[in-house]
Amino acid sequence: MAELTFTDLSKTFGGTPALDAINAQIASGEFVALLGPSGCGKTTLLRLTAGFEHPSAGEIRIGGETVAGAGRFVSPEDREIGIVFQSYALWPHKSVFDNVAYPLEVRRIPRAARQARVAEALSLTGLGAFADRMPSQLSGGQRQRVALARCLVFEPRAVLLDEPLANLDLALRASMQDVFRMFHRRTGATMLYVTHDQSEALALADRVAVMKAGKIRQFAAPEILYREPADCFVAGFVGDGAVVSARITGRADHAGLMLNVLGQDVVSRSADPEPSHVSIRPESITLADDAPLRARVTSCTYLGGRFRLELDTAGETLVAFSCQRAAIGETVGVRLHDLWAFRDPEGDVVLQKALADA
Ligand SMILES: Nc1ncnc2c1ncn2[C@@H]1O[C@H](COP(=O)(O)OP(=O)(O)O)[C@@H](O)[C@H]1O
Ligand SMILES: [Mg+2]
Repeated sequence: MAELTFTDLSKTFGGTPALDAINAQIASGEFVALLGPSGCGKTTLLRLTAGFEHPSAGEIRIGGETVAGAGRFVSPEDREIGIVFQSYALWPHKSVFDNVAYPLEVRRIPRAARQARVAEALSLTGLGAFADRMPSQLSGGQRQRVALARCLVFEPRAVLLDEPLANLDLALRASMQDVFRMFHRRTGATMLYVTHDQSEALALADRVAVMKAGKIRQFAAPEILYREPADCFVAGFVGDGAVVSARITGRADHAGLMLNVLGQDVVSRSADPEPSHVSIRPESITLADDAPLRARVTSCTYLGGRFRLELDTAGETLVAFSCQRAAIGETVGVRLHDLWAFRDPEGDVVLQKALADA
Protein backbone atom coordinates (compact mmCIF):
# COMPACT_ATOMS: atom_id res chain seq x y z
CA MET A 1 0.00 0.00 0.00
CA ALA A 2 1.27 3.41 -0.83
CA GLU A 3 0.76 7.08 -0.34
CA LEU A 4 -0.39 9.15 -3.35
CA THR A 5 0.83 12.72 -3.80
CA PHE A 6 -0.30 15.27 -6.39
CA THR A 7 1.80 18.42 -6.68
CA ASP A 8 0.61 21.37 -8.81
CA LEU A 9 -0.94 18.79 -11.13
CA SER A 10 -2.61 20.22 -14.23
CA LYS A 11 -4.07 18.76 -17.39
CA THR A 12 -5.39 20.69 -20.37
CA PHE A 13 -7.17 19.26 -23.40
CA GLY A 14 -6.78 21.44 -26.49
CA GLY A 15 -6.07 24.51 -24.37
CA THR A 16 -9.01 23.94 -21.99
CA PRO A 17 -8.00 23.09 -18.41
CA ALA A 18 -9.55 19.88 -17.06
CA LEU A 19 -7.41 19.92 -13.91
CA ASP A 20 -5.96 23.12 -12.52
CA ALA A 21 -2.99 22.91 -10.12
CA ILE A 22 -4.21 20.05 -7.90
CA ASN A 23 -2.30 19.66 -4.62
CA ALA A 24 -3.29 16.75 -2.41
CA GLN A 25 -1.79 13.97 -0.38
CA ILE A 26 -3.56 10.67 0.27
CA ALA A 27 -2.15 8.58 3.09
CA SER A 28 -1.27 4.93 2.68
CA GLY A 29 -4.39 2.89 3.41
CA GLU A 30 -6.72 5.87 3.27
CA PHE A 31 -10.13 5.67 1.55
CA VAL A 32 -10.63 8.96 -0.31
CA ALA A 33 -13.62 9.95 -2.44
CA LEU A 34 -13.40 12.46 -5.29
CA LEU A 35 -16.80 14.15 -5.38
CA GLY A 36 -18.07 16.72 -7.84
CA PRO A 37 -20.48 17.39 -10.69
CA SER A 38 -20.00 15.88 -14.13
CA GLY A 39 -17.07 17.40 -16.02
CA CYS A 40 -15.16 18.68 -12.95
CA GLY A 41 -12.10 16.51 -13.70
CA LYS A 42 -12.56 13.42 -11.48
CA THR A 43 -11.93 10.84 -14.19
CA THR A 44 -9.01 12.86 -15.55
CA LEU A 45 -7.34 12.73 -12.11
CA LEU A 46 -7.80 8.94 -11.99
CA ARG A 47 -6.50 8.47 -15.53
CA LEU A 48 -3.40 10.54 -14.75
CA THR A 49 -2.81 8.48 -11.59
CA ALA A 50 -3.20 5.22 -13.53
CA GLY A 51 -0.83 6.44 -16.24
CA PHE A 52 -3.37 6.58 -19.11
CA GLU A 53 -2.66 10.31 -19.57
CA HIS A 54 0.41 12.50 -19.25
CA PRO A 55 0.13 15.61 -17.04
CA SER A 56 0.44 19.02 -18.70
CA ALA A 57 2.27 20.24 -15.60
CA GLY A 58 3.05 19.09 -12.09
CA GLU A 59 3.93 15.77 -10.54
CA ILE A 60 2.42 12.51 -9.29
CA ARG A 61 4.16 10.36 -6.69
CA ILE A 62 3.14 6.88 -5.60
CA GLY A 63 4.78 5.69 -2.40
CA GLY A 64 7.45 8.35 -2.71
CA GLU A 65 8.35 7.39 -6.30
CA THR A 66 7.71 9.98 -9.01
CA VAL A 67 5.59 8.24 -11.66
CA ALA A 68 4.75 11.32 -13.75
CA GLY A 69 6.33 14.75 -14.02
CA ALA A 70 9.87 16.03 -13.47
CA GLY A 71 10.91 14.35 -16.74
CA ARG A 72 9.75 10.89 -15.64
CA PHE A 73 6.85 8.74 -16.81
CA VAL A 74 6.20 5.25 -15.45
CA SER A 75 3.92 3.18 -17.73
CA PRO A 76 0.53 1.96 -16.40
CA GLU A 77 1.71 -1.70 -16.16
CA ASP A 78 4.57 -0.68 -13.89
CA ARG A 79 2.53 1.42 -11.47
CA GLU A 80 0.98 -1.59 -9.69
CA ILE A 81 -2.42 0.05 -9.48
CA GLY A 82 -5.81 -1.69 -9.53
CA ILE A 83 -8.65 -0.08 -11.44
CA VAL A 84 -12.41 -0.66 -11.24
CA PHE A 85 -14.59 1.02 -13.86
CA GLN A 86 -18.34 1.42 -13.95
CA SER A 87 -18.31 -0.67 -17.13
CA TYR A 88 -16.52 -3.54 -15.25
CA ALA A 89 -14.11 -4.09 -18.19
CA LEU A 90 -14.08 -7.89 -17.85
CA TRP A 91 -12.86 -10.23 -20.59
CA PRO A 92 -16.14 -11.58 -22.00
CA HIS A 93 -14.63 -14.83 -23.30
CA LYS A 94 -12.83 -15.70 -20.04
CA SER A 95 -14.47 -17.37 -17.02
CA VAL A 96 -14.68 -15.58 -13.67
CA PHE A 97 -11.65 -17.56 -12.51
CA ASP A 98 -9.59 -16.68 -15.58
CA ASN A 99 -10.58 -13.00 -15.39
CA VAL A 100 -9.34 -12.83 -11.81
CA ALA A 101 -6.22 -14.86 -12.61
CA TYR A 102 -5.26 -12.58 -15.49
CA PRO A 103 -3.15 -10.04 -13.52
CA LEU A 104 -1.17 -12.96 -12.06
CA GLU A 105 -0.60 -14.51 -15.49
CA VAL A 106 0.73 -11.18 -16.76
CA ARG A 107 3.09 -11.13 -13.77
CA ARG A 108 4.17 -14.75 -14.49
CA ILE A 109 3.13 -16.07 -11.07
CA PRO A 110 3.46 -19.91 -11.02
CA ARG A 111 0.27 -21.90 -11.51
CA ALA A 112 -0.10 -23.33 -7.99
CA ALA A 113 0.32 -19.93 -6.31
CA ARG A 114 -2.06 -18.45 -8.87
CA GLN A 115 -4.79 -21.00 -8.03
CA ALA A 116 -4.52 -20.29 -4.32
CA ARG A 117 -4.60 -16.52 -4.67
CA VAL A 118 -7.54 -16.52 -7.08
CA ALA A 119 -9.49 -18.85 -4.79
CA GLU A 120 -8.85 -16.52 -1.85
CA ALA A 121 -9.88 -13.40 -3.79
CA LEU A 122 -13.07 -15.10 -5.00
CA SER A 123 -14.00 -16.21 -1.52
CA LEU A 124 -13.32 -12.74 -0.06
CA THR A 125 -15.66 -11.15 -2.60
CA GLY A 126 -18.33 -13.83 -2.14
CA LEU A 127 -17.76 -15.35 -5.59
CA GLY A 128 -16.52 -18.78 -4.53
CA ALA A 129 -19.43 -20.55 -6.22
CA PHE A 130 -19.11 -18.59 -9.49
CA ALA A 131 -15.55 -19.41 -10.56
CA ASP A 132 -16.63 -21.27 -13.71
CA ARG A 133 -19.30 -18.82 -14.87
CA MET A 134 -18.82 -16.49 -17.82
CA PRO A 135 -19.34 -12.71 -17.22
CA SER A 136 -22.54 -12.81 -19.32
CA GLN A 137 -24.02 -15.21 -16.74
CA LEU A 138 -23.56 -12.74 -13.87
CA SER A 139 -25.60 -9.83 -12.50
CA GLY A 140 -24.18 -6.29 -12.50
CA GLY A 141 -23.27 -6.51 -8.82
CA GLN A 142 -21.51 -9.84 -9.34
CA ARG A 143 -19.54 -8.46 -12.29
CA GLN A 144 -18.40 -5.56 -10.13
CA ARG A 145 -17.26 -8.09 -7.51
CA VAL A 146 -15.20 -9.86 -10.19
CA ALA A 147 -13.55 -6.52 -11.02
CA LEU A 148 -12.76 -6.05 -7.31
CA ALA A 149 -11.42 -9.60 -6.97
CA ARG A 150 -9.15 -8.93 -9.96
CA CYS A 151 -7.69 -5.95 -8.03
CA LEU A 152 -7.42 -7.89 -4.80
CA VAL A 153 -5.47 -10.74 -6.32
CA PHE A 154 -2.27 -8.87 -7.16
CA GLU A 155 -2.07 -6.70 -4.03
CA PRO A 156 -1.88 -3.35 -5.79
CA ARG A 157 -0.28 -0.27 -4.23
CA ALA A 158 -3.54 1.62 -4.70
CA VAL A 159 -7.02 0.93 -6.09
CA LEU A 160 -8.79 3.49 -8.28
CA LEU A 161 -12.56 3.23 -8.71
CA ASP A 162 -14.44 5.35 -11.26
CA GLU A 163 -18.16 5.53 -10.39
CA PRO A 164 -18.22 1.75 -9.87
CA LEU A 165 -21.86 1.70 -8.76
CA ALA A 166 -23.30 4.07 -11.36
CA ASN A 167 -24.83 1.23 -13.42
CA LEU A 168 -26.47 -0.55 -10.49
CA ASP A 169 -29.91 -0.04 -9.00
CA LEU A 170 -30.39 1.61 -5.62
CA ALA A 171 -30.74 -1.53 -3.47
CA LEU A 172 -27.71 -3.16 -5.05
CA ARG A 173 -25.67 0.03 -4.59
CA ALA A 174 -26.22 -0.08 -0.83
CA SER A 175 -25.11 -3.71 -0.59
CA MET A 176 -22.08 -3.05 -2.84
CA GLN A 177 -21.05 -0.22 -0.51
CA ASP A 178 -20.68 -2.90 2.15
CA VAL A 179 -18.51 -4.92 -0.23
CA PHE A 180 -16.19 -1.93 -0.78
CA ARG A 181 -15.97 -1.35 2.99
CA MET A 182 -15.10 -5.00 3.54
CA PHE A 183 -12.56 -4.86 0.71
CA HIS A 184 -10.92 -1.81 2.28
CA ARG A 185 -10.92 -3.31 5.80
CA ARG A 186 -9.42 -6.62 4.64
CA THR A 187 -6.79 -5.21 2.29
CA GLY A 188 -5.93 -1.87 3.92
CA ALA A 189 -5.55 -0.63 0.32
CA THR A 190 -5.15 3.04 -0.52
CA MET A 191 -8.42 3.78 -2.34
CA LEU A 192 -9.39 6.66 -4.59
CA TYR A 193 -13.10 6.46 -5.29
CA VAL A 194 -14.79 8.73 -7.85
CA THR A 195 -18.46 9.55 -7.49
CA HIS A 196 -20.91 12.36 -8.20
CA ASP A 197 -23.20 11.02 -5.46
CA GLN A 198 -22.58 12.91 -2.24
CA SER A 199 -24.33 10.39 0.01
CA GLU A 200 -22.09 7.63 -1.35
CA ALA A 201 -18.96 9.74 -0.78
CA LEU A 202 -19.96 10.68 2.76
CA ALA A 203 -20.91 7.10 3.63
CA LEU A 204 -17.76 5.41 2.35
CA ALA A 205 -14.73 7.68 2.57
CA ASP A 206 -12.35 8.65 5.36
CA ARG A 207 -11.93 11.97 3.56
CA VAL A 208 -13.68 13.56 0.58
CA ALA A 209 -12.13 15.92 -1.97
CA VAL A 210 -14.94 18.13 -3.30
CA MET A 211 -14.08 19.23 -6.84
CA LYS A 212 -15.40 21.88 -9.15
CA ALA A 213 -14.09 23.00 -12.55
CA GLY A 214 -10.72 21.25 -12.23
CA LYS A 215 -9.98 22.39 -8.68
CA ILE A 216 -10.33 20.87 -5.23
CA ARG A 217 -12.57 23.20 -3.22
CA GLN A 218 -12.25 21.35 0.09
CA PHE A 219 -10.56 18.12 1.17
CA ALA A 220 -11.76 16.96 4.57
CA ALA A 221 -13.54 14.28 6.59
CA PRO A 222 -17.27 13.94 5.79
CA GLU A 223 -18.37 15.42 9.12
CA ILE A 224 -16.13 18.46 8.58
CA LEU A 225 -17.53 19.04 5.07
CA TYR A 226 -21.01 18.89 6.55
CA ARG A 227 -20.41 21.02 9.64
CA GLU A 228 -17.76 23.41 8.31
CA PRO A 229 -18.03 23.82 4.52
CA ALA A 230 -15.40 26.08 2.98
CA ASP A 231 -17.62 27.94 0.53
CA CYS A 232 -21.09 28.22 -1.00
CA PHE A 233 -20.40 25.44 -3.50
CA VAL A 234 -19.36 22.85 -0.90
CA ALA A 235 -22.16 23.88 1.47
CA GLY A 236 -24.72 23.48 -1.32
CA PHE A 237 -23.29 20.32 -2.91
CA VAL A 238 -22.70 18.31 0.28
CA GLY A 239 -25.55 17.55 2.65
CA ASP A 240 -29.00 19.03 3.08
CA GLY A 241 -29.90 22.58 4.06
CA ALA A 242 -29.62 26.17 2.89
CA VAL A 243 -26.88 28.71 2.25
CA VAL A 244 -27.75 32.36 2.85
CA SER A 245 -25.84 35.61 3.09
CA ALA A 246 -24.92 37.00 6.49
CA ARG A 247 -23.66 40.30 7.92
CA ILE A 248 -21.45 40.74 10.97
CA THR A 249 -23.08 42.73 13.76
CA GLY A 250 -20.63 41.96 16.59
CA ARG A 251 -18.15 39.63 18.22
CA ALA A 252 -19.54 37.23 20.78
CA ASP A 253 -17.57 35.49 23.55
CA HIS A 254 -15.46 32.37 22.92
CA ALA A 255 -14.46 33.19 19.35
CA GLY A 256 -18.08 33.27 18.19
CA LEU A 257 -19.39 35.93 15.83
CA MET A 258 -22.69 37.69 16.06
CA LEU A 259 -24.21 37.59 12.58
CA ASN A 260 -27.37 38.98 11.12
CA VAL A 261 -29.00 36.09 9.25
CA LEU A 262 -32.46 36.55 7.72
CA GLY A 263 -32.95 39.56 10.00
CA GLN A 264 -32.08 37.63 13.19
CA ASP A 265 -28.98 37.96 15.35
CA VAL A 266 -27.37 34.52 15.58
CA VAL A 267 -24.11 33.47 17.29
CA SER A 268 -22.10 31.60 14.68
CA ARG A 269 -18.86 29.68 14.30
CA SER A 270 -16.36 30.59 11.60
CA ALA A 271 -12.73 30.16 10.59
CA ASP A 272 -12.84 33.55 8.89
CA PRO A 273 -12.95 36.93 10.64
CA GLU A 274 -15.08 38.44 7.86
CA PRO A 275 -17.59 35.82 6.70
CA SER A 276 -20.21 36.57 4.06
CA HIS A 277 -22.46 33.48 4.16
CA VAL A 278 -23.76 30.82 6.53
CA SER A 279 -24.65 27.17 6.05
CA ILE A 280 -27.95 26.34 7.76
CA ARG A 281 -28.28 22.57 8.23
CA PRO A 282 -31.63 21.08 9.33
CA GLU A 283 -30.06 20.36 12.76
CA SER A 284 -29.52 24.12 13.23
CA ILE A 285 -33.23 24.88 13.09
CA THR A 286 -35.68 24.54 15.96
CA LEU A 287 -39.34 25.19 15.30
CA ALA A 288 -40.88 27.31 18.04
CA ASP A 289 -44.25 29.04 18.08
CA ASP A 290 -42.84 32.15 19.76
CA ALA A 291 -39.78 32.55 17.48
CA PRO A 292 -39.78 35.94 15.74
CA LEU A 293 -38.58 34.57 12.36
CA ARG A 294 -41.71 33.39 10.57
CA ALA A 295 -41.66 30.90 7.68
CA ARG A 296 -44.22 29.25 5.43
CA VAL A 297 -44.23 25.46 5.01
CA THR A 298 -43.93 24.62 1.30
CA SER A 299 -43.20 20.89 1.53
CA CYS A 300 -43.50 18.11 4.10
CA THR A 301 -41.98 14.68 3.46
CA TYR A 302 -42.07 11.73 5.85
CA LEU A 303 -38.59 10.20 6.20
CA GLY A 304 -39.51 7.52 8.74
CA GLY A 305 -39.31 8.71 12.33
CA ARG A 306 -39.41 12.36 11.32
CA PHE A 307 -40.59 14.80 8.69
CA ARG A 308 -38.44 16.93 6.39
CA LEU A 309 -39.94 20.38 5.96
CA GLU A 310 -39.10 23.04 3.40
CA LEU A 311 -39.74 26.50 4.72
CA ASP A 312 -39.93 29.74 2.78
CA THR A 313 -38.77 32.88 4.52
CA ALA A 314 -37.51 36.18 3.15
CA GLY A 315 -36.99 34.66 -0.31
CA GLU A 316 -34.86 31.76 1.01
CA THR A 317 -35.77 28.07 1.34
CA LEU A 318 -34.72 26.49 4.65
CA VAL A 319 -34.83 22.79 5.50
CA ALA A 320 -35.92 21.62 8.94
CA PHE A 321 -36.72 18.30 10.62
CA SER A 322 -39.84 17.91 12.70
CA CYS A 323 -41.39 15.08 14.70
CA GLN A 324 -44.83 16.28 13.66
CA ARG A 325 -46.46 16.60 10.28
CA ALA A 326 -46.95 20.20 9.12
CA ALA A 327 -49.61 21.48 6.76
CA ILE A 328 -48.56 23.06 3.47
CA GLY A 329 -49.11 26.81 3.72
CA GLU A 330 -48.94 26.78 7.52
CA THR A 331 -46.79 29.46 9.17
CA VAL A 332 -44.21 28.34 11.73
CA GLY A 333 -41.65 30.11 13.93
CA VAL A 334 -37.99 29.33 13.23
CA ARG A 335 -35.08 29.61 15.67
CA LEU A 336 -31.53 29.40 14.26
CA HIS A 337 -28.54 28.21 16.27
CA ASP A 338 -24.97 26.98 15.85
CA LEU A 339 -24.50 28.18 12.27
CA TRP A 340 -21.23 27.85 10.37
CA ALA A 341 -20.11 30.98 8.54
CA PHE A 342 -17.52 31.39 5.78
CA ARG A 343 -16.34 33.98 3.32
CA ASP A 344 -17.22 33.43 -0.33
CA PRO A 345 -16.55 36.49 -2.46
CA GLU A 346 -18.29 34.91 -5.47
CA GLY A 347 -21.33 34.36 -3.30
CA ASP A 348 -24.87 33.79 -4.42
CA VAL A 349 -24.38 33.86 -8.17
CA VAL A 350 -21.94 30.98 -8.03
CA LEU A 351 -24.16 29.03 -5.67
CA GLN A 352 -27.18 29.26 -7.92
CA LYS A 353 -25.12 28.14 -10.91
CA ALA A 354 -23.48 25.30 -8.96
CA LEU A 355 -26.81 23.95 -7.83
CA ALA A 356 -28.20 24.22 -11.34
CA ASP A 357 -25.20 22.28 -12.70
CA ALA A 358 -25.29 19.60 -10.02
N1 LIG B 1 -9.68 13.02 -23.87
C1 LIG B 1 -10.25 14.21 -23.72
N2 LIG B 1 -10.22 15.14 -24.70
C2 LIG B 1 -10.78 16.36 -24.56
N3 LIG B 1 -11.41 16.77 -23.45
C3 LIG B 1 -11.47 15.91 -22.41
C4 LIG B 1 -10.91 14.59 -22.49
N4 LIG B 1 -11.13 13.97 -21.31
C5 LIG B 1 -11.80 14.84 -20.54
N5 LIG B 1 -12.00 16.00 -21.19
C6 LIG B 1 -12.68 17.20 -20.64
O1 LIG B 1 -12.11 17.47 -19.38
C7 LIG B 1 -13.10 17.88 -18.45
C8 LIG B 1 -13.10 16.93 -17.25
O2 LIG B 1 -13.56 15.67 -17.66
P1 LIG B 1 -13.66 14.41 -16.71
O3 LIG B 1 -12.37 14.26 -15.99
O4 LIG B 1 -14.11 13.26 -17.52
O5 LIG B 1 -14.80 14.86 -15.68
P2 LIG B 1 -15.67 14.00 -14.65
O6 LIG B 1 -15.09 12.63 -14.57
O7 LIG B 1 -15.57 14.76 -13.37
O8 LIG B 1 -17.07 13.99 -15.17
C9 LIG B 1 -14.42 17.88 -19.19
O9 LIG B 1 -14.65 19.19 -19.62
C10 LIG B 1 -14.15 16.96 -20.37
O10 LIG B 1 -14.94 17.31 -21.47
MG1 LIG C 1 -15.99 10.77 -14.95
